Amino acid sequence: MTASNRLLHAPGVGVRARFPIFEHTTYANSCSQGALSQDVRRAYEEYLAGWDEHGAEWGHWVERAESARAAFARLVNADPAEIAVTTSVSQGVSGLVSALPLDPDRRKIVISEFEFPTVGQIAHAQELRGAEVVHVRPEPDGRIPLERFAEAIDERTALVCCTAISYRTGYRLDVAEVARLAREQGALCLADSYQAAGAIPLDAHALGVDFLTAGTVKYLLASAGLAFMYVRSGLHERLLPTQTGWFADEDIFRMDISDYSPAGDARRFDSGTPPVPNIYAGLAGMGIVAEVGVEAIEAHVRGLVERLLAGLDELGATVATPRGAGELGPLVCVASTDERALVDALLAERVVTSERDSNLRISLHLYNVEDDVATLLDALARHRALLA
Ligand SMILES: Cc1ncc(COP(=O)(O)O)c(C=O)c1O
Repeated sequence: MTASNRLLHAPGVGVRARFPIFEHTTYANSCSQGALSQDVRRAYEEYLAGWDEHGAEWGHWVERAESARAAFARLVNADPAEIAVTTSVSQGVSGLVSALPLDPDRRKIVISEFEFPTVGQIAHAQELRGAEVVHVRPEPDGRIPLERFAEAIDERTALVCCTAISYRTGYRLDVAEVARLAREQGALCLADSYQAAGAIPLDAHALGVDFLTAGTVKYLLASAGLAFMYVRSGLHERLLPTQTGWFADEDIFRMDISDYSPAGDARRFDSGTPPVPNIYAGLAGMGIVAEVGVEAIEAHVRGLVERLLAGLDELGATVATPRGAGELGPLVCVASTDERALVDALLAERVVTSERDSNLRISLHLYNVEDDVATLLDALARHRALLA
């Protein structure tokens, strides 16, 4: 590898050159959408060129879907047979809950208050099937102590849904401990890791979760329409999703409509025709993350987050993200008196952020540099009146 090639793989200034938006904008909104790279643009062009040149490239497209399954498996240290390729987190989780028997003695679904709306809504939809949904709420300081989970999970719990990093506050949960509490009561555990995948190391086996899901839109640097769900091996046989599709069948090409015989592995949570264009993009986005390395990304972003927090403290801002050891990820939330006005004011200065609840969300990733943090802090100082 040449020195300049090596640089393109380094977090910060090196890899940033692959993301044209930084030529004119300070982008700090990866919690909403990762920035577009030249790699992802090229991947879309490659998809169109192949389609144009060869027509129906189905063999190749299905192979690309398998490559995406394998790439996500590497990212979460799992086996490809443990990964379902889906079009969204919603699709994976809907398939998963459709496979829960919800017997009278085990029909409770425990969800944290930090679940993304889709997970909460899917859980509540199961009330139509007799489920009882219990919410685990955070403390006023923005943390969810493990005791709250322990109180909610019992021998009647079928599924515990938790979120690795909250999209609302940036709070990073101790997923392994939640999974342990679930296991102790014989319950299954799902970790929605959309805000974590590509930003912090994830090892599905070490976390001890039964399911882990994420999509490519955010820190995996691609576009909408592709997600994945890890399903712990050994669990598939027990779970029969009734929300399904022909790509979840044990033999897709038999085209047999005489019965339901789902694949013997996590593919039973796939569904219809794979989202081919998004798979091209997803492979390119996940490729960048793999080249740079999630450990290197996390270390780089931690430095930027520390610099950001120090600057926010100097401004006297109220940081809503808990800051204890192991609680910080790539997303920092700051209380605002008018968060929409603040996002707009920053946008007018070509600084892209987002908002949730009454907080400004600043999210940093492999392409951000110290100058971005300085630009952000300068802009926030100018709009200090909009910080609570
Ligand atoms: C934590 C989390 N889960 C899920 C989603 C999206 O789910 P879906 O892929 O179903 O749109 C998001 C997207 O913003 C998210 O932040």
